[in-house]
Amino acid sequence: MARIIITTLTASLFFFSLLSHQTMSQPQRNELMDTFCNPSNNFTQTSSYETNRDTVLSTLRESSSLGTFSNVTIGLSPDTVYGMFLCRGDINTTSCSDCVQTATIKIATNCTLNKRAVIYYEHCMVRYSNVSFFSELEVRPGIVLFTVRSAPNSNQFNQTLSDKFNQLILNITSSSLIPYFLKDQERVIQPEGSYELESMVQCSPDLDSSNCTVCLRFAFSSVSTCCGSPSFAQVFTPKCLLRYQTSVLPSPPPSPSTLPPLSPSSPPPLSMPPPPPLNT
Ligand SMILES: *[C@@H]1O[C@H](CO)[C@@H](O)[C@H](O)[C@H]1NC(C)=O
Ligand SMILES: *[C@@H]1O[C@H](CO)[C@@H](O)[C@H](O)[C@H]1NC(C)=O
Ligand SMILES: *[C@@H]1O[C@H](CO)[C@@H](O)[C@H](O)[C@H]1NC(C)=O
Ligand SMILES: *[C@@H]1O[C@H](CO)[C@@H](O)[C@H](O)[C@H]1NC(C)=O
Ligand SMILES: *[C@@H]1O[C@H](CO)[C@@H](O)[C@H](O)[C@H]1NC(C)=O
Ligand SMILES: *[C@@H]1O[C@H](CO)[C@@H](O)[C@H](O)[C@H]1NC(C)=O
Ligand SMILES: *[C@@H]1O[C@H](CO)[C@@H](O)[C@H](O)[C@H]1NC(C)=O
Ligand SMILES: *[C@@H]1O[C@H](CO)[C@@H](O)[C@H](O)[C@H]1NC(C)=O
Repeated sequence: MARIIITTLTASLFFFSLLSHQTMSQPQRNELMDTFCNPSNNFTQTSSYETNRDTVLSTLRESSSLGTFSNVTIGLSPDTVYGMFLCRGDINTTSCSDCVQTATIKIATNCTLNKRAVIYYEHCMVRYSNVSFFSELEVRPGIVLFTVRSAPNSNQFNQTLSDKFNQLILNITSSSLIPYFLKDQERVIQPEGSYELESMVQCSPDLDSSNCTVCLRFAFSSVSTCCGSPSFAQVFTPKCLLRYQTSVLPSPPPSPSTLPPLSPSSPPPLSMPPPPPLNT
């Protein structure tokens, strides 16, 4: 059992929350992270807005088998409804579609008459609003899901993690807009112990690269200030996602003491016969 905590940071209209629950550590789980219904703007039942909202959600459901991102606009002013979904870049189409099906149903039942709402699952997010949000940078409402278990080598972990995410955030700006996602896996070998660090960053394809950078820097700062050095964390904001997990590797068997220490000048050990000469 891994204890998972979800945290939310407060802000004006929508916020970032704090809740915790127990969960099995299953790599393929798709937990509901949180639902944010904006209670200050409601619509009335059987209004055009409701019809448009429901059409937005069903359109998103239909397009979720086609890709990891979709946006949609339905209806005439003042009842226009804007919607989108975004699936995590490392989730396959089937899981993405399953997540969007679940999320679109849940958001309508949970935020029945709210004009604006966002729902986050571990695998996807779905939102709708009466205000257009395409290409806008938004960092709230946001959510951090993390384990109570600390990362290995916690003295050096902050540095390792910030080096890793600095690189990923730099590199994602040169990646293609769809899926706008970068993933990394590294064996961190340190005298205190070795572990595998898997990390990923992702932006919504409607963000330009500078807003993507700002969003991910915000996401990284919320994970590095929320909760110590957890061994796993995932941050979701309306426009970007950041996630990492660590797993401790078994310590390597002690190397035979007869091996001479490697020095930069030593030739590499020959483990394969030299390649045959090329045909000329
Ligand atoms: C909107 O509806 C919610 C319940 O869904 C209610 O709690 C809230 O007070 C309503 N807001 C307004 C401004 O009427
Ligand atoms: C989707 O978002 C783009 C901006 O990224 C916007 O130009 C386009 O109109 C939107 N499409 C729909 C169907 O709302
Ligand atoms: C998609 O991923 C899920 C979860 O990892 C897996 O169970 C399923 O077999 C995968 N489906 C396809 C079509 O790859
Ligand atoms: C919606 O979900 C939130 C938290 O996820 C919960 O606090 C709230 O009671 C739910 N509301 C409804 C109407 O289901
Ligand atoms: C969205 O709804 C709110 C509350 O009803 C309203 O004040 C605002 O003007 C609306 N925005 C747009 C772009 O329609
Ligand atoms: C970046 O986000 C801001 C704030 O939402 C927005 O005004 C701006 O247009 C965005 N930049 C681009 C190039 O889309
Ligand atoms: C970032 O890009 C550089 C140059 O392509 C590459 O060497 C490095 O491994 C990348 N790092 C990550 C974490 O993606
Ligand atoms: C790592 O950073 C977090 C958040 O700033 C802090 O709580 C923790 O003590 C730091 N750990 C170390 C070993 O410096």
